Amino acid sequence: MRHNASALFRATFGGAPQVVASAPGRVNLIGEHTDYNGGPVLPLATQARTSVAVGPGDEGVLDLISTRDGERARVAWRDGRPAGWGAYLAGVMRELEATGTAPVGAGARVAVTSDVPVGAGLASSAALTVAAAQALSLLGGARLNPRQLAGVAFRAEHDYVGVACGIMDQMSAALARPGHALLLECASLSARHIPIRGRLLLVDTGTRHQLTGGALNERRAECEAAVARLKLELPELVWLASWPARWLPRLKRALPEPLRSRALHVVGETARTRFGAQLLTRGHLRRFGGLLFEAHESCRRLYACSAPELDVVVAAARRAGALGARLTGAGWGGAVLVLLGKGEGGRGKGEVKVAKEIRRAFATAFEREPSITVVRPSGGVRGERVG
Ligand code: GLA
Repeated sequence: MRHNASALFRATFGGAPQVVASAPGRVNLIGEHTDYNGGPVLPLATQARTSVAVGPGDEGVLDLISTRDGERARVAWRDGRPAGWGAYLAGVMRELEATGTAPVGAGARVAVTSDVPVGAGLASSAALTVAAAQALSLLGGARLNPRQLAGVAFRAEHDYVGVACGIMDQMSAALARPGHALLLECASLSARHIPIRGRLLLVDTGTRHQLTGGALNERRAECEAAVARLKLELPELVWLASWPARWLPRLKRALPEPLRSRALHVVGETARTRFGAQLLTRGHLRRFGGLLFEAHESCRRLYACSAPELDVVVAAARRAGALGARLTGAGWGGAVLVLLGKGEGGRGKGEVKVAKEIRRAFATAFEREPSITVVRPSGGVRGERVG
């Protein structure tokens, strides 16, 4: 479906687009809710992508069509914030204009196609904003590098749409490499590509979340409140993730619940992610998998961002002998990532057994089936041929 952005553009606007770009969704291997706390994350790009085809449009207007709702919308984006997904594109336009890289007249016709599911914890919004930032800036004759594209996309979502997200999703959509995960330190934005070993399954539970103004914003506020209190203990503390792991007793004394639990998750997850990246680099897949189970438990118990559907999948994966499994993305629904060993690769017995046990347990609990797909780590934002 993603290859049809050009076709959708032609069918809707009656001419060829000038530029087409695409960007991937992501699954995060480990490092959940650490990005906006200045810690590390380890995402990889999915083969599912969002494509954006653009051509010149009327002054100050975005003329939009997407296969998502099939409806055409005209957005005079300077006149206030549009509703729905148009707000993300308006945010991108605003950021491009602020840096002098918007198309002439800051208007465009835009066609969007995607096979990244929305609300599944797979960063569909970053796929959209990063692809749009690339397509619209090229339409404006500007060449932004991947980090600049991530910056435009992040500010569009964070400052304009108002989701208190971190920078992980946008950086992954912009910088990812096929066959690799991206170890990103979110305080310094230093990035390293780490080869993926083993095999990964993605189990989409079909339970959806809506992040705008919701639970993610609440967690972020809790983390900020924790930093404000911890600064009394350690005045130079800027990021919650930088709290020294050896000072956990002091952290526990300084914070009331639920701030204590939230902070314990962030500090623990930071250590797990850095250690996990080392284990993955050295090929210690089984130990890496163990960290994934621990990370899920921490999300469930301390960060309270799991959901019964996610817990059932993780428990079933563990019973069936998977090396690791955890919720991926913000949580509160969405998807679980399952790690299998190399021996269980191909259409091996292990993979079939794990998928079967997950389907069985899920159907028993919720009377429906989750969707299970193999994850193939793919590449970041790129230009597509204008068809
Ligand atoms: C959402 C946000 C990300 C990150 C994750 C949790 O996906 O967009 O920036 O905070 O939640 O790890």
